[in-house]
Amino acid sequence: MQPEFIIIHQQVAPFVAHIQLNRPKELNALNLQLMGELRDALKLLDADDTVRVIVLSGNEKAFAAGADIKQMAGKSAMDMYNTDQFSTWDAIKKIKKPIIAAVSGFALGGGCELMMLCDMIVASETARFGQPEIKLGVMPGAGGTQRLTRAVGKALAMEMVLTGRFITAAEALQAGLINRVVPEELFLQEAIKLAATTAAMSPIALKMAKEAVLKTFDTSLEEGLHFERKNFYLLFASEDQKEGMQAFIDKRAPEFKGK
Ligand code: CAA
Repeated sequence: MQPEFIIIHQQVAPFVAHIQLNRPKELNALNLQLMGELRDALKLLDADDTVRVIVLSGNEKAFAAGADIKQMAGKSAMDMYNTDQFSTWDAIKKIKKPIIAAVSGFALGGGCELMMLCDMIVASETARFGQPEIKLGVMPGAGGTQRLTRAVGKALAMEMVLTGRFITAAEALQAGLINRVVPEELFLQEAIKLAATTAAMSPIALKMAKEAVLKTFDTSLEEGLHFERKNFYLLFASEDQKEGMQAFIDKRAPEFKGK
């Protein structure tokens, strides 16, 4: 069945797919259907050998303005528990290929949290980031208190979570939340460019490197170093390692095959 709230663009650059969130009238508010469609699309692309990197965007006005408030407003705690809406987020967390967020306009609440599930973030000058759940009488529920704090530190995270203040793209860049800021008309193009640069690498090395960087958030330095070393050694079982090193010695560009 065709998804209703996302659009999938294949091969926007070699080995790069692009998923666009597409509920523009609701500023891409993340309802359950959209999140289910996004999870399914990401899983398919994760298993697709013609894709090495995925770009995730909204539109110029909004990446996503958060979880769908209208869908949540009347729910009880038991409804929330039984719906288990964050299980889709857990599935997205398990995507092995790098995901690059292309953000313009609002990235709020669940929108900011979804963006932080991505591995690199390219933002337009008009991007605004925030965790405004406190203004709704709740708090972030999809990782905002944890990932934002790890990304920008306690001081700014506390201010954003406790007051709901939005920060600008310039502030987000300075705080280390995002990778780069570009003029609005270029945000998608630049994200695809970054994706294409990344997609030129060995897809196996990309997955293992992503896995090792993310391990930082779950483990001690000693265990993280151990994990890194195992992945590093494991890559010597790949043809891509032989090709990458031989190409360096031969002074030519490598041709990675993902084997
Ligand atoms: N859920 C549902 N609908 C939303 C929405 C959301 N998160 N954000 C915007 N919309 C809807 C609006 O209700 C409006 O719909 P109608 O035209 O039918 O009234 C439409 O999108 C356009 O929005 P606005 O008219 O409000 O646009 P604006 O430019 O005046 O304001 C905004 C933009 C500041 C982003 C404002 O829409 C806003 O504050 N949105 C809510 C942001 C928010 O609180 N997000 C957190 C949600 S909770 C969450 O995400 C929990 C979690 O951790 C997972």
